[in-house]
Amino acid sequence: MILARTRGALARALHELRPRGPLALVPTMGYLHEGHLSLLDCARESGGPVAVSIFVNPLQFGPSEDFARYPRDEARDLALMEPRGADLVFLPPVEEMYPGGEPRVTVRAGAMGDVLCGAYRPGHFDGVLTVVAKLFGLFRPAAAIFGSKDFQQAVLISRMVIDLELGVEVRTAPIVREEDGLAMSSRNAYLSREERAEAVGLSRSLEAALAAFRGGERSAGALRAVAVERLEAFPLLEPQYVELVHPETLERVEEARRGTVLALAAFAGRTRLIDNVALS
Ligand code: PAJ
Repeated sequence: MILARTRGALARALHELRPRGPLALVPTMGYLHEGHLSLLDCARESGGPVAVSIFVNPLQFGPSEDFARYPRDEARDLALMEPRGADLVFLPPVEEMYPGGEPRVTVRAGAMGDVLCGAYRPGHFDGVLTVVAKLFGLFRPAAAIFGSKDFQQAVLISRMVIDLELGVEVRTAPIVREEDGLAMSSRNAYLSREERAEAVGLSRSLEAALAAFRGGERSAGALRAVAVERLEAFPLLEPQYVELVHPETLERVEEARRGTVLALAAFAGRTRLIDNVALS
């Protein structure tokens, strides 16, 4: 496994790896868990070299968000990646990604970046798309793999690749969960014992609405009410949004159908958690 911290080292590593087949890239912010590692498994399916980037991107954090305290553990991350088949890890310091300071030209997510999480994290998706576009430029991957845990992010990246003709195959992998159903997240490390116990409320809420959908309920309002009511059983959770949206346009739907995505966000104390399910 090659470790590159500079653009120069990255270019040399890519030169060496490219002849081995189509490059698959897994962008991350580190503090890896099984959710991230499942993306490496998906990347390996291309048959070519697998590259991972670890970069806590300041551009996608709001001024009152957790950039400074975002969990980091480089040694542990490296030890986890090698056995899962990473051929190259790019770990740039901020000055290496943004040598001239904040980029002057950035990617705008547009209206699809203003709904769901974007309504509460202004500029977040512009920051995500800008760094992902830069990573695509630096790596020139054939494919890139994202988790459906961050559903809106995956949709926006797919949209960016189409609208800007970036020529990268975007693959989305399923959500990996803890045994009790909580979606794995680096931010789960922030949870107190009490908050961790209640965090299961997000997936419980989605399960309740999914069960109602499977029982024949199609009204988005009614399904949303089922999810909200289930969430209310967890007093430490403070819901931020619960919405049923179209899986590609992110527009709110009145009537749920197969593929409609139920997405939600809730605070457990100071920690913001998200989860979603595609109705099926
Ligand atoms: P990060 O939160 O580290 O997540 C990296 C990738 O892992 C994302 O594609 C995310 O959806 C995926 N992932 C996280 N938890 C998962 C889970 N439980 N199951 C499946 N996949 C999961 O998302 C980012 O970083 C950043 O915004 C990034 C795309 C790297 C741009 O900075």
